[in-house]
Amino acid sequence: MSEVRVEESTHLDDTDAAAVLALAGRAAETDGVGAVSEAFRLALTSPRASVTHLLAYAGQSGPVGYAARDGAGSAELVVDPASRRHGVGRALLRALLDGGATGVWAHGDLPAARALAASEGLVPTRELHHMSRALSAADREDPPLPEGFSVRPFEPGRDEQAWLEVNGLAFASHPEQGSLTLEDLRDRMGQDWFDPAGFLLVEDTTVSDEDGTHPLAAFHWTKREPGTRPRPGPARDGDEGAGTSGEVYVVGVHPAYQGRGLAGPLTQLGTAHLARQGADTVELYVDGDNPRALATYRRQGFEDATLHVVHGRPPAP
Ligand SMILES: CC(C)(COP(=O)(O)OP(=O)(O)OC[C@H]1O[C@@H](n2cnc3c(N)ncnc32)[C@H](O)[C@@H]1OP(=O)(O)O)[C@@H](O)C(=O)NCCC(=O)NCCS
Repeated sequence: MSEVRVEESTHLDDTDAAAVLALAGRAAETDGVGAVSEAFRLALTSPRASVTHLLAYAGQSGPVGYAARDGAGSAELVVDPASRRHGVGRALLRALLDGGATGVWAHGDLPAARALAASEGLVPTRELHHMSRALSAADREDPPLPEGFSVRPFEPGRDEQAWLEVNGLAFASHPEQGSLTLEDLRDRMGQDWFDPAGFLLVEDTTVSDEDGTHPLAAFHWTKREPGTRPRPGPARDGDEGAGTSGEVYVVGVHPAYQGRGLAGPLTQLGTAHLARQGADTVELYVDGDNPRALATYRRQGFEDATLHVVHGRPPAP
């Protein structure tokens, strides 16, 4: 293979964006897990000043590898399965680190990623657990909420600012989720899967301002990609979209309302919504350093499915 060349840019044209998506698709098929997560995938077609794209070439053909880095130093990288073990991954990883990346995601914690990262002196610095559990008819019922709280769906045009505020406070120490902006929220609201009926807001009904608005105490945003995973066997009547998997996309509790028994029922509100929509499995992502959330989900029957690891420089001694 010819010498590897890495080109950086903050904007990809349509041809490059399509080539990267195709490459990432081939890799996901080979690896059994996607290497490019949602935030970076959105930045391929809707440019973000904070995201730098790195395309690796070997010879005259299209890209053989892709990497991206955001303003916070988070990065991802993927090499076309047909071009692996020729130094493309190492060249991209070095370019990412030289450009200021502090953490590189290895989705699925694959042996090749572990070996590459270790060979460049990196160590695991963060673990993200992908958990899942099966849903049954018994999950369709909404749980009772603690006294003084009620639930309603997100209303586009009305709830954005309140949600951004609670999200920022609930995820103050979470690198990606806590820094979501109105633009990021609108990007997600513009996706095919977005459904306000599955974006549940829990309000404190014991307090209201002069126009009758209650403070937002917590939220459970569910996500359901239509038609992703057909369930074996015949479809059940009335189960529109049966056989798909749903996701606990983001669950957050305002810090002032933490420790008041909301986490369990809040999780069940979302899983009940997904079950009623016909989803037969529910999945979620949770940080390894969030033992309270891990415990909440394990108590509700979630089990580990895949591990995602961030590799970075070892902390200074
Ligand atoms: C991980 C990945 C990027 C490696 O890309 P690559 O172009 O094949 O890597 P390189 O050829 O530059 O390999 C560099 C070194 O990594 C290690 N390595 C890479 N693949 C390996 C494998 N399958 N088994 C063992 N070691 C491996 C070796 O030390 C290798 O050096 P060597 O070939 O001189 O022995 C690629 O497998 C991939 O795209 N995986 C899916 C996405 C992913 O996991 N990304 C996260 C990266 S941290």
